[in-house]
Amino acid sequence: MSKGPPCEALHRGIPPLPAHDDPEYWGKIRAQFPMPPDEAYCNTGTIGASPLRVLHAVVDHMVRSVVEVAQVDWRGGGMSLLSGYGPYKELRTKIGELINADYTLVALTQNATMGMNLLANGLDLPAGVGVLTTDIEHPGGRCGWELLAERKGTKLHKAEIPIPAESPEQIVDAFERAIEPETRVMSFPHISSAHGIIMPVRQLCSLAREQGIISIIDGAQATGHIPIDVKAIGCDAYYSSPHKWLMAPAGNGILYVKDDLIDDVWATLASSQWNNHEDNGYRLGQRGTGNPALLVGFEAALDLHFEIGPERIYGRIKELGDRLRCGLSQTERMEVITPLHPEMSSGLTTFKVDGVEGRALQDELWRRERIKPRALGEDRGVRYSTHIYNSEDEIDRTLRIIEELTSHT
Ligand SMILES: Cc1ncc(COP(=O)(O)O)c(C=O)c1O
Repeated sequence: MSKGPPCEALHRGIPPLPAHDDPEYWGKIRAQFPMPPDEAYCNTGTIGASPLRVLHAVVDHMVRSVVEVAQVDWRGGGMSLLSGYGPYKELRTKIGELINADYTLVALTQNATMGMNLLANGLDLPAGVGVLTTDIEHPGGRCGWELLAERKGTKLHKAEIPIPAESPEQIVDAFERAIEPETRVMSFPHISSAHGIIMPVRQLCSLAREQGIISIIDGAQATGHIPIDVKAIGCDAYYSSPHKWLMAPAGNGILYVKDDLIDDVWATLASSQWNNHEDNGYRLGQRGTGNPALLVGFEAALDLHFEIGPERIYGRIKELGDRLRCGLSQTERMEVITPLHPEMSSGLTTFKVDGVEGRALQDELWRRERIKPRALGEDRGVRYSTHIYNSEDEIDRTLRIIEELTSHT
């Protein structure tokens, strides 16, 4: 762990939010973040950068939880010191607002990986039952199913997703072809991790429903990024990691299960509420002692998200992503791996430059202009995230460097 003098950014005040019609709106939003102004962070797909107000909420709660520790009455009252025991109705109600669900259907978890494992274990699928996923899953969306197949004898199938994907129909076709008579679960990302494909989730859920298949969505890359309405999507379960696009502190997760299924999902982590079917979200979110400051930070991130507005955030992310993809697709020796179809991409853009290894490109962007996207391993290219703390100028400088590299190497 790095040690050094106290971080100056922590002691900086939080600037007020700009008025919605402020012509300098996004520039002023950038001032809400503690990263140095001359550094461009373009890897939200791995982890988001929390705004100052979220950091302050976390640190303040951590300090107060020690200062006020003797004042807490364990019969109730005072501040929360143990995150995994409480119902956190207010926070779960706000998460419900984010995804359009009742709070009793929302469980607090630690991250997407935990949500998917709670489902894989809790659905209690018998041997021989088929689980259909894709060949582009992140390990957090895939490995719970692999473990289940090894341990319980379920059958794991994978739909082959065409790369680059050209249309939503292509993806629905890939699933239609891969469904087997024994398939009882379809599990797929809302936005794929490495390629940034926005999947046709409504159509996939409707396909699942027609065949009596449970649909599960890995929303790790979607919450805080694109508007989500689990009822309109029609999924049976949805899980996510709010530390990416929602910019909440890491250590938080969301699991939603539809009302007609949640009663049948067994708790995997059992504590005092393991059998509370009045509030199933509370039951499934049992996880013992954790750090409640992270939940306070999560709520501050949600409040900011609502204050700016989910549609406005999505519009900005998409606008910047489109600017990047448009520029890249006009560059020679460029392979844009993320779909150019307008409905199938937003803030994640993965691309490869012929003759320039991904890591070399990442290093060059940092060396020249302090721009930091992420090189994917095994030369699968560079994944560039655009969020509300990014700007047109950063995209244009990125494109300029790439153009120089491709014309001189
Ligand atoms: C699509 C997808 N699913 C799951 C995960 C795993 O998330 P976590 O490590 O927060 O559990 C990621 C992380 O990048 C992801 O992109």
